[in-house]
Parts: sequence; structure tokens; C-alpha cells
Amino acid sequence: MARTPLIAGNWKMHKTVGDALALVHALRREALPDGVEVAVCPPFTALPEVSRALEGSSIRLGAQNMHWEAQGAFTGEISPLMLADLGCHYVIVGHSERRQHFGETDAIVARKVRAVFAHDLVPIMCVGERLDERDSGRTDQVVSAQTEAGIAGMEPSQAERLVIAYEPVWAIGTGRSASGEEANRVCGLIRGVLSERFRSAAAAIRILYGGSVTPDNAAEFARQSEIDGALVGGASLDPQKFLRIIHAAIR
Ligand code: 13P
Repeated sequence: MARTPLIAGNWKMHKTVGDALALVHALRREALPDGVEVAVCPPFTALPEVSRALEGSSIRLGAQNMHWEAQGAFTGEISPLMLADLGCHYVIVGHSERRQHFGETDAIVARKVRAVFAHDLVPIMCVGERLDERDSGRTDQVVSAQTEAGIAGMEPSQAERLVIAYEPVWAIGTGRSASGEEANRVCGLIRGVLSERFRSAAAAIRILYGGSVTPDNAAEFARQSEIDGALVGGASLDPQKFLRIIHAAIR
């Protein structure tokens, strides 16, 4: 099955509204190649303005997190209803920074994934092992368990829309990426877990690699059969670097 590669920029906690608009305008000035889907995930504060700035563009908007309830007494949280209202298409769920710094468990991630689908949004569900887990030979076990937990209760019709990002924690923001071959192996393992559960529907699910993706290594990941794009952190903050990664993703 041909899967359209997705290059998504996770801006994390960067960019004021003005800086976010400057970045989006710089991206919009360039012609984007066919055959690659592009998304940007700004901080919540910039979503309304960036959404307006993307009108008429093929670039999709994503959020970096959300609460699972549509509304309620959850001070400081943002709901799927609010994100859909702003024109978001994607929501990153279970990023390792949320798991590590904000105590998100597999059960919370699964709950959020279900809420994302319930509001007709599309989750980019993150999985990945920490360095100590890799060093003790537990990578496959950890990534399989996170994947299985995240898809609990998911319908095959929803699964077809799911995006998974394999982001080894030791590769995030460190300048030390996984090799294309090893990233491809783990993404293949994830697809195996998805196939057991969803059978043929698993062939439609896009699995991205994330962790120190740069213009220099993007093509190596794009070449891999099980990798369907990238979730890009630092390099997505620079329009020229992000554009080079987008162009490298053409198959
Ligand atoms: P870097 O590309 O900065 O390593 O970040 C990856 C990431 O966490 C994307 O979600």
C-alpha cells in the first residue's frame, strides 16, 4: 500500500505569535512538492493566528497535546473541541517529554488517543525507548508495550487514520539520531504489532521517525520501507531546514 509521507514540525515550547507567523509565512512563500504531506504543530497560543495564516494552503495544523474531556473543570487544559474549533487536523499525543516531565502514562495516552478520534482529529501517537531501556536490551519490549497500550479500544476504521511516531528518547534534541536501518527495524516491529490487531488495515497506518532529524540525515530515513515521514523538532523551527527535510521525503 502506498502511504503518503508526512513531515510534521513539532515546535515544542518555541515561538511567540509573531515569530510563529514569520515561520509560517516563510514556508508559504515556497512551493511545496507533491506527494508529501506537511504539518506544523505550534504552541497553543499561536494556533488561532497560524490557522488563519494557513488558509488556502495544503499545510495542515496540529496541536502538541490536549485533555481527553471536551470541557469541564480542568484548569490550564485545552480540549479536543477547542482544537477542532481552531482548524487543527492533528494532535501529538504521548510525546516522551509529556511522559517524562508531566507523568503521562500509557493509560492516559490511550485515553487521549480515543478522545482525538472522537472529535474527528487525527492522533500522532509517540512511542520510544529511553537510553537505559535500550542499553538493557528492552527496546522492542518497551515500544511494543507502548504501541499496544495506545491502540487499546481503537476501531480498525479509526486505525487507518492513525499516525505513530517512533521517537527514541535518547535521540531527541541530542544531535544523535538512530541509524536509518535501526529506525526502520523498530518501525517494522511497530507495524507487526498493528498488523496483529488490525490485520490489513495496518498497512495504511503511517509510522514516522523522530529524533534529531536534519536536512542531512532526512533522506536516509525517507529511503526506509517502514518509515513514512518524520516528526521534526529543532530543525522545524528554521524554515529553510524544514523545507529541505520536506523535499528529502519525496519517494
Ligand atoms: P528533535 O528533532 O529536536 O530531536 O526533536 C524530536 C522531537 O521530539 C519531535 O517530536
